[in-house]
Amino acid sequence: MLWMGVRMMSLVAENVTKVYRKGSSQVHALRGVTLEIQDGESVAVMGPSGSGKSTLLYVLGLLATPTSGRVLIDGRNVTVLDDITRSSLRNKYIGFVFQSYNLLSGLTALDNVALPMKYAGIGARMRRQRAMELLKMVGLEHRANHYPSELSGGEEQRVAIARALANNPKVILADEPTGNLDSATGKQILALLSEANARGTTLVVVTHDPTVADICTRVVKLRDGMIVD
Ligand SMILES: Nc1ncnc2c1ncn2[C@@H]1O[C@H](COP(=O)(O)OP(=O)(O)OP(=O)(O)O)[C@@H](O)[C@H]1O
Ligand SMILES: [Mg+2]
Repeated sequence: MLWMGVRMMSLVAENVTKVYRKGSSQVHALRGVTLEIQDGESVAVMGPSGSGKSTLLYVLGLLATPTSGRVLIDGRNVTVLDDITRSSLRNKYIGFVFQSYNLLSGLTALDNVALPMKYAGIGARMRRQRAMELLKMVGLEHRANHYPSELSGGEEQRVAIARALANNPKVILADEPTGNLDSATGKQILALLSEANARGTTLVVVTHDPTVADICTRVVKLRDGMIVD
């Protein structure tokens, strides 16, 4: 595949707008955002509720298409790629931690973590083994066979983080990854994300928490769908 050779991973949003339409009403979630993220960088995205942080992360993570503007990975325009190519790029290079976790309710914690590896074609034994290691890393090996509905919010969040790390992504995009965690667990998760960043993984993290922003080398502030700082 065209993208197999990607080793570096610069991520650029170029004059991106996003308009959500529902019936006759429109929401301008992003109003011309330009942001360049270098390979290996760590960036915190901050701003008030509704300022477009999650939307920006979706666009960078190829989960949403901009209404106008482009997203470039290593200088290549990914907004023009078809859905299948975009999903396979995402699966291979991007780990996404959703604000609302988005775990599959019919799968156990272990199987949720293993799912991206299944899509990547990794065999069942290896998947289980690595998924268990990842659950250990987030302190949840004792919950491996529990379903999301049997987990607390903070536990679901940790499963979501383990899942994001599953394929050793080049980029981790995390939306409020410590939002529902007590401070000790939050610190542990932050340490995991920092370690991944120290190993060369690019990190973009949406947060309200200044201690999360502290582990990042750059802070981007959004307001009303625009970068203000
Ligand atoms: N699917 C959607 N349909 C319509 N409007 C949407 C949709 N998703 C988001 N919006 C709107 O777009 C704007 C930006 O939303 P977004 O979720 O990006 O904000 P946010 O900065 O992540 O907020 P929060 O801190 O509360 O998570 C908000 O006004 C929101 O109501
Ligand atoms: Mg959000």
